[in-house]
Amino acid sequence: MEAELLAWYERTKRDLPWRETRDPYAILVSEVMLQQTQVDRVVPRYLEWLERWPTTADLAGASAGDVIRAWQGLGYNRRAIALHNAAKAIAESGWPDDLTTLPGVGPYTAAAVRNFALGEPILPIDVNVARIQKRTGCDFSPASGQALMDLGATVCLARIPRCDICPLAAGCPSRGQRSEPARKQSHFEGSFRQRRAELLRLVADAPRDFAELDSAVVESLLRDGLIARDGVLVTLPS
Ligand code: ADE
Repeated sequence: MEAELLAWYERTKRDLPWRETRDPYAILVSEVMLQQTQVDRVVPRYLEWLERWPTTADLAGASAGDVIRAWQGLGYNRRAIALHNAAKAIAESGWPDDLTTLPGVGPYTAAAVRNFALGEPILPIDVNVARIQKRTGCDFSPASGQALMDLGATVCLARIPRCDICPLAAGCPSRGQRSEPARKQSHFEGSFRQRRAELLRLVADAPRDFAELDSAVVESLLRDGLIARDGVLVTLPS
């Protein structure tokens, strides 16, 4: 089944800028951006980011405020702080052997950097890859990492898989089966997240008076290091 997958990938692979580099920092930036944001939205932001901060040392030297501002619109702003802190750690002590010791780097992201940048034989398993493994029952090798990303994003979709165009359909025991709808984010979670994003955008525009802001939202952003408080003023961190 893997041979069919790799042949399909060679024919159809998406032209994505992080597929043209083996720089671990660039791969880390791409994977952190891709954690919860769609590929089409990530591509231009990834290119801008690397132009502005081409190395971990450049990013480590940036202010937290500039990093947060540059992340605006990508969502889940805590990822920006984590990436900034990871760059500072790397600039100071080099890349650690265990990449999961870096802020914001879990087992999936660590495996992605080790495979896509360092060429190590470890298959990065995110929700898409896990779904394809489960449906096909196939034990894909590390060489299939990027191909599985594409298959999961364009063919082996979570809810309604496109088995009619799937290169693995002939041997797939789940062919034609649909899955349970994905669990929706709870309403409260969504709205609190939205209030966090709105308040952060306000503060990124200009410092604000603490008294005019929602204090629960301010507290939560302060805890994450996304904003700072200077007397009555709420600002981005310096
Ligand atoms: N999603 C997460 N990592 C990805 C990658 N390297 N290419 C495409 N989509 C991805």
